[in-house]
Amino acid sequence: MSSAPSDSFHRKIDYLRLSITDRCNLRCLYCMPEEGVTKLQHSQILSYEEIVRLARICISMGISKVRITGGEPLARKEALELCKTIAGISGLDGLSLTTNGVLLCDLAEELFRAGIRRVNISLDTLKPERFLQITRRDLFERVWAGIMAAQRVGFSTVKINTVVLAGINDDEIKDLARLTFRYAVHVRFIEFMPFAEHECRTRFFPASQILERLRPLGSLEASNGEEADGPALHYAFKGALGKIGIIGAVSNHFCSSCNRLRLTADGKLKTCLFSADETDLRLLLRTGAKDCEIAAAILSAVRKKPERHHLGDPVFRKAISRPMFSIGG
Ligand code: 5AD
Ligand code: SF4
Repeated sequence: MSSAPSDSFHRKIDYLRLSITDRCNLRCLYCMPEEGVTKLQHSQILSYEEIVRLARICISMGISKVRITGGEPLARKEALELCKTIAGISGLDGLSLTTNGVLLCDLAEELFRAGIRRVNISLDTLKPERFLQITRRDLFERVWAGIMAAQRVGFSTVKINTVVLAGINDDEIKDLARLTFRYAVHVRFIEFMPFAEHECRTRFFPASQILERLRPLGSLEASNGEEADGPALHYAFKGALGKIGIIGAVSNHFCSSCNRLRLTADGKLKTCLFSADETDLRLLLRTGAKDCEIAAAILSAVRKKPERHHLGDPVFRKAISRPMFSIGG
């Protein structure tokens, strides 16, 4: 097994986010429009075999952490089988899953048995009617049951991802953070990333203000992240069971410690969430490339990974190539 490849800025690239579908059973305001989403055709999406082959190649190159994402990954029929197969690839040091939680209640146990050890669940509100407003689906109870099921089956970490939108759910920051007193969950507040000319772009709520909102709840202590795959600042309230994370993708630059690659459901490798550059691995897969040729293409992309994003810059606005659900977050 190789040691993880480095890019041109001496960053070790050892983490792959693997999007297995662009479909989703929710329509979150900040991510997908209600109607008119251009979905990938079945033939454009990588097959189970193609995904597994790419995962194997990446792991053989020293990429040791893999996260399964979507769209909503559990909406793909083969999700469980894929998790099981990928979890079994030798050299992998941790398989995790990001889900919206809608299907988690029924699948938590099997996912755990399949080898998933960490789950991130998106939840932006504790109010069912607001959940409907944000996700356009009346499924709060299902997601909550999914979070409880994840707690029960014993994943090593259960994280809740909350995208904070000014005037939509910023009044619930404290209530969501209070969950860490009752449950061993990590609640991570994510700065909304205003992609392109998005309808929510006026709803940006900065990380610094998230932290201010949390202060009245008690003394927040800085806490070391136990894993290297997240760009969050970690805190915990004294006496709490869980932790608090704040991800300020716009306010703070985490680029200098970025260790990730992303593979889209249609087989494009992205080395930066905010760059339009993509390497077409599907084309290589479908034109008979050998493993070593695919590995060479991945390495070449790694070497060209941009030093940083330009989210805060005015020129950024139009630079993003795809919506989030099609990259996998
Ligand atoms: N800004 C910040 N986070 C986003 N997500 C989706 N779109 C955005 C955005 N524009 C989050 C989801 C999920 C994760 C995969 O990405 O809430 O938690
Ligand atoms: Fe689906 Fe996640 Fe996008 Fe919401 S944020 S629509 S759950 S992919």
